[in-house]
Amino acid sequence: MTYFDQVNEAAQFLRAKMDRLAPTVGVVLGSGLGSVANAVTEAVIVPYGEIPHFPQSTVEGHSGRIVAGRLGGAPVIIMQGRVHSYEGYSPAEVTFPMRVLGMLGVQAVVLTNAAGGIDENYQLGQLITIADHINFMGWNPLVGPNEPRFGLRKGTGLRFFDMTEAYSERLRRLAQQAAADEGISLDEGVYLAVSGPSFETPAEIRAFRTMGATLVGMSTVPETIVARHMGIEVLGISCVTNKAAGLSTTPLSHEEVFETGRLVERRLAGVLERVVVWISTLLEAER
Ligand code: HPA
Repeated sequence: MTYFDQVNEAAQFLRAKMDRLAPTVGVVLGSGLGSVANAVTEAVIVPYGEIPHFPQSTVEGHSGRIVAGRLGGAPVIIMQGRVHSYEGYSPAEVTFPMRVLGMLGVQAVVLTNAAGGIDENYQLGQLITIADHINFMGWNPLVGPNEPRFGLRKGTGLRFFDMTEAYSERLRRLAQQAAADEGISLDEGVYLAVSGPSFETPAEIRAFRTMGATLVGMSTVPETIVARHMGIEVLGISCVTNKAAGLSTTPLSHEEVFETGRLVERRLAGVLERVVVWISTLLEAER
């Protein structure tokens, strides 16, 4: 069975469970950021383990299930938890869920993550929209034969494609308005992705800063690349869960990342609830 067929089988399995929901907006929730899924009504919950070919997360804090339903009335499909390459998953496995979202008809995704703050002005728990990224993982999920059938619209699914606006300008504006309505500011940053699992050294963080990065993390970038290949619009939101290595006197730990995530997930949930409804309305109006 080809990879394309596996994606299709997983999508068909989920479509059957979701009844007539047909969400155009997808959300991926990162480490300790899962609580917005509790606000979903008419929720259909599917653990990753039940979905054919779907990779399952092994990291604590990434619960690993799909929550499909309505958020503020808008149809949405949420991935609560994701898999990372440091768990041993191949690039194809890491991006499998994003392919499935695309095949289900999702036209825009909100990717959230926990990130280390390289910019010294960032406060712990601050939310930042991703304006651009630097792929420092050492791999690209699209290496290998191109599969044009993943192109969902005209001019997508190409071997080579543009990444100048990988993170949608208009979705960033919507996120900023949503945050303003929640009474919080939302700066923009540049997210640099490493493979992990070790955190960075202070020298690496200094190097990344000179490269123009303001955030560092171990996810999101492969998902964004695959989403853009399919023609899906991307909004990225990072939660600064810790100061990057060398910027704090305390050693980095997964517990700190997880705990800070816990502290801000309510705020993030407020922003997500608004922005998902607005994106859904925007896409509806364009139909
Ligand atoms: N580095 C890499 N990934 C991370 C960090 C970090 O400091 N914090 C959360 N995810």
